[in-house]
Amino acid sequence: MVIAIDGPAASGKGTLARRIAARFGCAHLDTGQLYRAVGMAVLRADKDPADAAFAALAARALKPDDAILADPELRSDGAAQAASKVAAVPEVRRALLDFQRSFAARPPGGAAGAVLDGRDIGTVVCPDADAKLYVTASVEVRAQRRLKELRERGIPAIPDAVLEDMKARDARDSQRAVAPLKPAGDAFVLDTSAMTADEAFEAAVAFIASATGSAAAR
Ligand code: DC
Repeated sequence: MVIAIDGPAASGKGTLARRIAARFGCAHLDTGQLYRAVGMAVLRADKDPADAAFAALAARALKPDDAILADPELRSDGAAQAASKVAAVPEVRRALLDFQRSFAARPPGGAAGAVLDGRDIGTVVCPDADAKLYVTASVEVRAQRRLKELRERGIPAIPDAVLEDMKARDARDSQRAVAPLKPAGDAFVLDTSAMTADEAFEAAVAFIASATGSAAAR
């Protein structure tokens, strides 16, 4: 069973994907971490994330057991912005495609299936996924959530700057030529602007259970 979860930054898709994977006994891959790892590798080599040749090299070198994938610095805003730039490079996307498809075809740990979350899972990486979700919320709500998360982590943040960064990343992710962020035609669109995380989770579970015919074990 393959479950594809896409959506814009700070839509809550990551938390949702982890909970769904646990509920359905699936392995989970946060594909944004792959792009963040490539972005970080480029920054650490003092290169420009828009340098297509270097970014492609870094993407091809990324291995599933790479320590960088567990580096807490991947959650930083610097890594997010670099990720969104390397993600616009076609060779980077091509290099990461095999990584993601292998995970979906052979989930680690003998899991019954795979949950992948990202921007193009339902449209490009796993177009034949058994269930596709597109998780979204208004840009203002997402900026508020990001602000709260940053403050909880003790990181000072200016509301207007967080909102502007979010808009810039949305624009880059949805306007790029290759695999832009958009819902797959057959995706269930879940707008969580007015939902709690638990409400979003229950709505997602109900959809997946009916799409896959699988019992949502509690
Ligand atoms: O989900 P995230 O914020 O960790 O993603 C970081 C960046 O990586 C995001 O701005 C766009 C890119 N990305 C992508 O292009 N395709 C994916 N499947 C996942 C992430």
